[in-house]
Amino acid sequence: MPPSPTPNLDDWRSAYQRPETIPFPASNPYSAAKAALGRALFFDPALSGDGTHSCATCHQPGLSWGDGLARAVGIGGNRLALRSPTLINVAWTDAGGWDGKFDTIESVAFAAILGHGNMSQTEPRLLERLNAIPGYVEAFQQSFFGLAISRNTVELALATFERTLVSPATPFDRWVAGDEAAISARAKAGFEVFRGRGHCADCHASWNFTEGAFFDIGLADADIGRGRLFPNSVALRHAFKVPTLRDVARRAPYMHDGSFLTLSAVVDFYDGAGIDRPSRSPLIRKLGLSAREKHDLIEFLATLTGDPVPFPVPVLPR
Ligand code: HEC
Ligand code: HEC
Repeated sequence: MPPSPTPNLDDWRSAYQRPETIPFPASNPYSAAKAALGRALFFDPALSGDGTHSCATCHQPGLSWGDGLARAVGIGGNRLALRSPTLINVAWTDAGGWDGKFDTIESVAFAAILGHGNMSQTEPRLLERLNAIPGYVEAFQQSFFGLAISRNTVELALATFERTLVSPATPFDRWVAGDEAAISARAKAGFEVFRGRGHCADCHASWNFTEGAFFDIGLADADIGRGRLFPNSVALRHAFKVPTLRDVARRAPYMHDGSFLTLSAVVDFYDGAGIDRPSRSPLIRKLGLSAREKHDLIEFLATLTGDPVPFPVPVLPR
């Protein structure tokens, strides 16, 4: 056999294979009708109390399903405590939210819809509005075979749509598949930093560059994140969910608080290891990366973002 052009590549290549199918839970299996209905609901400002906000106001297709803001802005210009996270690859996410307070993707929607200063809707008013639109009545009928338009069926349809938001294949994936020319030599060196001296892959693991764990990485923000759910845990104080790094170039500003404007600022932060405190993960330590290693790392991160995929906004039922 000819030697592999990148040493040791084949050992771990399999860990970076993109999955072929989306995992839909047995409690909410995929159907095309349900996904189409969820897509319409997602883009419909009727879900908010004053008709100004849809889910897509904060989760925009062109911004990797975030909104480009450091903190989300709800109706009436109300600033929320957290940055709008990406929704790509939520099908592989066990717990929703930066602190994982939502057990399922289904259960996130009504926190936004009913959230005061978020979408500020009420459940009766939402159901009344949807029931008054014949196109929705028909779409719910096709999706749920006679079940009423209810909080539950709205949640199931939205979550089905969200699970279809899979990050597109990128230069990195073409490299993993064997195309040595798909990424530059410096990006390959950056991947070695990512897995080696940078220790990034300790937490940003697998094809999705997260396995959904929670860590304190030493950010200055006062929010204690998952620590609110587990007040007796030292390690979970200031802990937030490891985000995917797919499409990351399209998602500034970074972190739950939008505190870094560029990937270069993120890499400098990790290099210095942030705030030393008891909760900070032992996997975070001063790295002492050279300027070249930092540059290579950023070049590697860029290979995780593919070309923009046009996303047609649906025609809303009427
Ligand atoms: C005003 C901006 C805003 C609107 C509108 C909004 N979201 Fe979000 N979304 C957020 C923020 C901020 C978070 C993080 C919340 C947290 O961590 O507690 C979030 C988190 C989520 C998550 C969890 C993702 C993950 O990986 O943890 C899902 C799913 C989600 N939103 C879906 C929706 C749906 C569906 C709608 C419409 C019904 C919606 N959002 C409307 C800002 C918004
Ligand atoms: C101890 C686990 C851990 C290690 C090691 C780690 N990360 Fe992270 N990473 C996280 C967590 C947790 C967050 C989210 C933190 C937050 O928002 O509070 C994050 C966020 C990020 C983000 C922001 C993504 C977004 O959408 O906002 C980038 C980029 C990133 N990490 C890159 C890296 C790089 C590059 C390295 C290596 C130098 C690295 N990470 C090492 C856990 C880790």
